[in-house]
Amino acid sequence: MVTSSVSRKRVWFITGSSSGFGRALAETLLDRDERVVLTARNPHQVEDLTAKFPHNAYSVELDVTKPQQVREAVKQAIAYFGTIDVLVNNAGCEVAGVIEEVSDEAVRRQFETNFFGVLETLRAVLPHMRQQRSGHILNISSIASFVPGAGGGIYSSSKLALEGITTSLAREVEPFGIKVTAVEPGSFSTNFFMNSYVLIDAKNQDYEPLISDIRQRIQNLIGNQPGDPKKAALAMIKVVNSDNPPLRLPLGADTVSAIEGAIEFIKTELDAWKEVSRNTAFDEVVVEENHVAK
Ligand SMILES: NC(=O)c1ccc[n+]([C@@H]2O[C@H](COP(=O)([O-])OP(=O)(O)OC[C@H]3O[C@@H](n4cnc5c(N)ncnc54)[C@H](OP(=O)(O)O)[C@@H]3O)[C@@H](O)[C@H]2O)c1
Repeated sequence: MVTSSVSRKRVWFITGSSSGFGRALAETLLDRDERVVLTARNPHQVEDLTAKFPHNAYSVELDVTKPQQVREAVKQAIAYFGTIDVLVNNAGCEVAGVIEEVSDEAVRRQFETNFFGVLETLRAVLPHMRQQRSGHILNISSIASFVPGAGGGIYSSSKLALEGITTSLAREVEPFGIKVTAVEPGSFSTNFFMNSYVLIDAKNQDYEPLISDIRQRIQNLIGNQPGDPKKAALAMIKVVNSDNPPLRLPLGADTVSAIEGAIEFIKTELDAWKEVSRNTAFDEVVVEENHVAK
């Protein structure tokens, strides 16, 4: 059951507040009289919000790939508002292209933003949340962690890495009253494809049809994404208001279908290969049926 308690005026720290989900969430929160640390690589992009909400909005320059800037931004935010109650690791980008051809440098750039940037921000905020014995962390993942399509492997792997630390982190910080949720949007109408997405051209002719097909699909998708970022913002606020928030929040009917499909696929393959999978222990070892790896 989803229950919720009336929230006090919290402080939200949002990475990538300039655009898309980050901006929609910031605007929704400010309209509701909550306090928001708007972080952006270029703080001019959020000046309209600090001007409109001078008491509740505070902007800080932040590129999540710059560790020193991350620590400084968190320090400034706490000095200004006295606390951070909710951290939203939203900043993200996508490098698309085939596994064989995307350069190591591009892969590392992808992980610098989507994984190491989050890790750095978490590590800067967690000591504060642990000390205050409360907090909620939202890590913006993706439908791509359930359906890693051809050409999307590098992005998917960065979001899967994020899912991995989200689950472990939730267990590690639960004793300190800190909640953690992976938010998994499907296709939403943000600036992502214009602003944060790069498709690497095929070098080998063999991959040209796939890359052309992806390019065409993206062109067709722009402006036709079904998801409304404002509704995503409301769903995230609902989760943070909940007394019993989920570890995962899929957003969009497309993500719900993708997860249902993934569950069915895993179950079908698991059943088909169960005997092979099970019979791998030394003959003298008796493995309990419900053994869970620690
Ligand atoms: N839109 C979707 O359909 C969708 C679906 C699943 C997941 N997501 C995820 O949602 C998150 C937000 O994306 P969006 O759709 O809202 O796209 P967006 O409108 O392009 O917003 C991306 C935000 O991330 C910021 N950003 C990128 N790299 C950064 C860095 N190194 N440091 C700080 N900020 C950085 C951008 O800042 P600048 O303005 O400076 O570039 C921008 O504010 C991403 O994590 C994305 O993977 C989106």
